[in-house]
Formats: sequence, C-alpha cells, structure tokens
Amino acid sequence: MSVFESLLQFLSTGTLLGALLLLLVLYLLFSGSKSQKEGKEPPGPKPLPLLGNLLTLDLKRPFDTFCELSKTYGKIFQVFLGPRKTVILVGYKTVKEALMNYAEEFGDRYIGPGFRIINNEHGILFSNGENWKEMRRFALSNLRDFGMGKRGSEDKIIEEIQYLKGEFDKFKGKAFDTTQPVNYAVSNIISSIVYGSRFEYTDPRFTEMVDRANENVRVSGSATMMLYNIFPWLGPFLNSKRTIVRNILKNKAEIMKLINELLETLNPQDRRGFVDSFLIRKQSDEESGKTDSLYHSMNLYCTINNLFAAGTDTTATTLRWSLLLMAKYPEIQAEVQGEIDRVIGGRQPVVEDRKNLPYTDAVIHETQRLANIIPITPPHKTSCDVHLNGYLIKKGTSVLPLLVSVLRDENEWETPDSFNPRHFLNKQGQFIKKDAFLPFSAGRRVCLGESLARMELFLFFTFLLQHFHFTPPPGVSEDDLDLTPAVGFTLNPAPHKLCAVKRS
Ligand code: HEM
Repeated sequence: MSVFESLLQFLSTGTLLGALLLLLVLYLLFSGSKSQKEGKEPPGPKPLPLLGNLLTLDLKRPFDTFCELSKTYGKIFQVFLGPRKTVILVGYKTVKEALMNYAEEFGDRYIGPGFRIINNEHGILFSNGENWKEMRRFALSNLRDFGMGKRGSEDKIIEEIQYLKGEFDKFKGKAFDTTQPVNYAVSNIISSIVYGSRFEYTDPRFTEMVDRANENVRVSGSATMMLYNIFPWLGPFLNSKRTIVRNILKNKAEIMKLINELLETLNPQDRRGFVDSFLIRKQSDEESGKTDSLYHSMNLYCTINNLFAAGTDTTATTLRWSLLLMAKYPEIQAEVQGEIDRVIGGRQPVVEDRKNLPYTDAVIHETQRLANIIPITPPHKTSCDVHLNGYLIKKGTSVLPLLVSVLRDENEWETPDSFNPRHFLNKQGQFIKKDAFLPFSAGRRVCLGESLARMELFLFFTFLLQHFHFTPPPGVSEDDLDLTPAVGFTLNPAPHKLCAVKRS
C-alpha cells in the first residue's frame, strides 16, 4: 500500500485505528529506507519492551556480562539499559579507534539522572559543550600552576608522605586497615592544590568530607543506582539515592564554607590555589559586566567536587591494591625493595628516580593494569552520527568503552589475568611502554589528573616500600589474601588488614 493510498483510507474512515496504522506504515517505510542508506547498527541481544536487556545483566558486575556478550556479538555491540540504547566498545583496537581516531565524535558525556543530581551538568566530569571545555581548560592550567607535573606537587606529595608514614608507624607492625590513612593522605594532595593548604588527619571536618565522598563513589556504582539511572522514578524508594543526596548536601555546605573563608582573605597578588584563581576570575568577569560568565559558584563547587571525587578514591584505591599485591607476592616485594635499596638507599625518593627504577615502575604499571579500578569509563555520548568499523552509531547514543577489556586484552598481554610485572619489561630488564595500558582512558575525555596521579603513585609506593615490609596479618597466609574486588564506581580491594613492618 502506498503512502498516498494510506492517507486516502485514513481520510475516508477517520478512525483512531487508521491513524495508528498509518503512523506505523510511515515509520516502517522511512526508518527502513533510512537505515539501509546510512548503514547497519551494531548487533546485540534482543531487548524486552521497557526492560531492554536488563534481565541479561549482572547489575553488580555489568562489565562481566559485557565481556561475555562480546563473545557472541563482537567488539562493537548494543544493549538496551531499559529503553536506552547503549553501545559497548570492546578490546584495545576498538577502544583506541573510537576514542583516539574519532575523538570529537565520541568525546561527549552522557549524563544520566544519577550524575545529574550530583553536578547538574556543571563542572568537568559530567558536563558538555562550552562549559566542559572552559572548566577543563581552566582546571588543567591551574593544576599545572599549582603543582601538577612540576616540582610544586612533588614537594607537596613528599611532605604528605611523612604524615602517612607517621600513621603507619602508630600501628607498630600490627595488622590494620589501610583505607582511611591512605585516603586522607591522597586527598590532602588535591586539598593543597585546590585550597592552598592541607588538613590534619584529626580534623573531623576534613575526615568526614573524605569519608562521605568515598561512600558516594561506592554507592554510585551499586546495582540500585544503576536502576535509578535507568528508571529515575524509582528515586523516592531507594536508600542509595537518599545516601548520595545527603552526602552531597553535607559536603556542599562544607566546601562553600571553605570557599567563603578563602574569599575573606583573598589577595590577587598571592594566589594560594585553584579556588583563589577561580574567585579572581569570577570577580573580574563580574566587574566587566559579563552576563554569560561560566565562572559562577555552581561551576566552582562542581569542579572542586569533581577534582576530589575523581582524584582521591582512584589514586588511593590503586595505592591500596599495590600494598595488597606486595603482601600477596613477597618475592616481587623483595625485588622492588632490592632495587630501591640499590638505587636510592636511605634518601627520600624523587620523581627523577623513576627512570632508574624499571622494576618498581613495572610493578606500579602492572598494579594499575590488573587492579583495573575503572572497568568501564563514565558513559560517553556520540556528538554526531558516526560510522565505526562498518556500524552506524547515531548521534546522542550513549557509549561505554570497556577499559577492562583493554587492560586484559588477550591479544595485548601475555598473561592477562595474572600479576606479571614482566608485561612492562624487556629481556634486558628495561621498562617498556605498552600502548594497551589505558587505565586513564584516552582521547578528549582522558583523565585530567593523569600526570599528578602517576607522580603520587610513584612517590607514595616507593617511599612506603623503602620504609615498610607489607605482610598479611598473623595466621593469614599469602594465598588467603583475596584479590576479588569490592564493586562500586571503582573496583576496590575487598576489606582486609595488612601489617606494615618497619624495615631496619
Ligand atoms: C590512578 C588514578 C586515576 C585513574 C585510574 C583515573 C582514571 C580516569 C578515567 C578512566 C577517567 C574517565 C575518562 C573517560 O571518560 O574516558 C577519568 C576522568 C577524570 N579524571 Fe581521573 N583518574 C585518576 C586520577 C585522577 C586525579 C588525581 C585527578 C585530579 C586531579 C583526576 C581527575 C579527573 C577528571 C576531572 C576527569 C574527568 C575528565 C573529563 O570528563 O573531561 N583523576 N580519570
């Protein structure tokens, strides 16, 4: 039946059924011819109405289901998270092709309801367009000014390491949970870059802020928050959402207080940190009568929030994995310590030492690879229609690069599922870079704090191994140390205790 005939029939009967049928015919006619012209969409499991492929997914470990599905549907496939179509990118070659060769096309962020309540599309991590560009540029240039990649942050880290050592010393070799001291130390690095000063570990205002932020990272990766992202109307019934909102409101109040304190003592000739720079820019835009300035309080608060959320849990979690792995593999720990003793001896390690510590460097890289703390990046979104490896991915589609499938890609790593520092060493024992080492992702949205994080990991790890020997608690064997991660937005080591025994 032609479109014209349908129209005539509709006009003659005028029934609702006719209208619906006509719409269906038009849809099939136009959607069919369009998709044939434009290319085929990625394959994927058949979705159910409303639920999509939710029943197929392990909501606690969706990345495992995606790896499984990839065996059937290939390196680019689509699933429906509820009614929302999502394209999954699998393996080093595919992820690299999309994020690096089509950086613009895959460079937007999909912002689901769970993240909108946190950022309201301001700041860096969950924003797009001009707002994202300007805040990312401003944060990067200020992070550089206040230390990142420079001597400044090296000094800040070295200062903080002494405090962390003091905390470890307090346990006198007895077993303890490393979570809080490591989180506080790492958070203080961002604090001194953002606010211009560090906090005492006994300051409840600081420790509660860090603990709340960590709780949010954990809860935002839970199965219930995944459901909330798909069906936001579930919100009022979900404890997880209530927890997140409560933590956000409390942390926001604290951050605003800190900003106000800095505002009262602001001196444009003597900037203490990122907040001062932002406030000075804000005042200058206000004085020149700029009405569309992006330098407003909401962007300031959200950017600070992003830097803390993205910069604390990630680095601290990786560091805790590294200590756990050392306790589990004492022969690797001994080799690291032997190298540190030979090359550095008893003096304070500095960034310059990295090139002379290939084994230690390889162990840190291998920790990041195996720990795979962000198995799936926060969702990306296509900024226009894009053809990738023969498939059409339409503008506005949410896209998940599966970083775990890159860091464990069988074609790139000799023993993808085991801890093997040799992945990063050549036959002569020199450090080698690996292209498939992408824990910081790649392309337009690549981690903004990569160089800071790398500096922190190197200095903290080397210093701690220089001073302590890490072992399981008495009565627990190395084999008993469990490497199964606790799932949140990042993959953390499951709760455990370690002994930090002073090296003589
Ligand atoms: C071991 C430590 C870290 C790891 C593994 C890590 C990893 C990542 C990953 C995978 C992303 C998402 C990239 C994407 O969407 O494709 C990201 C984004 C981001 N990271 Fe990191 N990160 C670490 C440390 C840091 C630190 C220390 C900071 C702060 C200075 C930071 C700030 C950010 C920000 C602001 C973004 C959002 C970038 C954007 O959307 O444009 N990260 N990070």
